[in-house]
Amino acid sequence: MREDIKEVLFTEEQIRDKIKEIGKKISNDYREKDLILIGILKGSVMFMAGLMKEITIPCSMDFMAVSSYGNSTESTGRVKILKDLDFSVEGKDILIVEDIIDSGITLAYIKEYLYSRKPNSLEISTLLNKPERRKINIEPKYTGFNVPDAFLVGYGLDFAEKYRNLPYIGILKEEVYK
Ligand code: IMP
Ligand code: MG
Repeated sequence: MREDIKEVLFTEEQIRDKIKEIGKKISNDYREKDLILIGILKGSVMFMAGLMKEITIPCSMDFMAVSSYGNSTESTGRVKILKDLDFSVEGKDILIVEDIIDSGITLAYIKEYLYSRKPNSLEISTLLNKPERRKINIEPKYTGFNVPDAFLVGYGLDFAEKYRNLPYIGILKEEVYK
């Protein structure tokens, strides 16, 4: 798989250090709250697994699955819920855990949907952020790294369901998807 990667942007160690920092902030900010982490499948699994280990306060977790991409590298702009929450989040302090924010379309939809479930608060934590690509304004409370406009894989991020298992984040070579 390494031969399909143009450049490694973040090593496993750099990612781990960054997740530690974010976990510390969250543990501090949510001390008096009723925190629930909601991971967006499947891209967030590695980030979620790393982050929950760094959170030192009681919290619960759930997952949602949505689709908007199919097998392409551009958002279709349509979002569909494939897996809903298991329990009520009414009155809880939701922290969405996402792998990457690109156009913002997916999270704008998820945010609106979760607000309708009447949480006490709703914030976003994303491992990666591509602010230049935004079509809808979405401001994450916690961001791991701001990244350039390139197609990235690894650490949960996929292209056509592959490369999620890479322990680092890299730029996928264009000839792989063009
Ligand atoms: P958005 O709706 O355009 O913000 O897209 C968000 C979703 O698109 C993320 O949760 C990812 O699953 C996927 N995505 C966006 N950019 C990339 C990328 O560079 N590599 C892999 N997946 C991406
Ligand atoms: Mg995703």
